[in-house]
Amino acid sequence: MQIAFITDLHTGLTKELPFDVDVRQNFLKIIEVLKTRHFDLLVLGGDLCLHDGNAEIYTWQKRQLDSLGKPYYVIPGNHDNQILLGNVFSKLKLTGKNEIYYDLDFEQIALLFLDTGSKVTSDQQKSWLKTKLDLYQKKQILIFMHHPPALMGVPFMDREHALIDRAEILSLFLAHPNFLHVFSGHYHVERSLFIKNVAIHITPSLYIQIDPFVEDFRIDHRLIGFRMIQILDLGLRTSVHYLEG
Ligand SMILES: [Fe+2]
Repeated sequence: MQIAFITDLHTGLTKELPFDVDVRQNFLKIIEVLKTRHFDLLVLGGDLCLHDGNAEIYTWQKRQLDSLGKPYYVIPGNHDNQILLGNVFSKLKLTGKNEIYYDLDFEQIALLFLDTGSKVTSDQQKSWLKTKLDLYQKKQILIFMHHPPALMGVPFMDREHALIDRAEILSLFLAHPNFLHVFSGHYHVERSLFIKNVAIHITPSLYIQIDPFVEDFRIDHRLIGFRMIQILDLGLRTSVHYLEG
């Protein structure tokens, strides 16, 4: 199985050019590239909207995504609105706490999609996660969550925008008997972190990338990044690719 992963689209309103970036055009560029690549499903890692969730933006994105003719799955980021996401992408179901988390069960593989859009996960979501990790113990599990469940060594993001309950989530992963791969966005950086049985991969955005070597916010570059994940019988292969923004 091959998965394409794009994250932090940050699409704004028409003609909006934050930091001189044509974010709509970047998204269209990725859609065109994906039309030429082989993959079985696409995951969108959250922050679909530039600032706040917006039904017009989600509807525009859905039109482009539908044109791929492939299944795609969305997780919310902190710049999304779960209710509007649920309205536009009708297969996304809200839980009692207005979170969107769900799982996909394949023969040898399970995919878990978490909701960290509120910068913290509910107790309900954490107990759901624990149940699913137990349920799929014999399968290869991939987890998609907007915020990574650990500090990633990017000073500005670690200090200002880290997941509040990351230690609790990470401890659930560390307690799992098998190797787990976690795919996140949010940081606008390409980086991997390995902690015991947990590999955390963060993927660059479709907007701007953040300089991981300075204390405060600074744009590193404006190339747009996406990730491919190829699931093998034992383990997986993953790579990040860049396009001119
Ligand atoms: Fe984010």
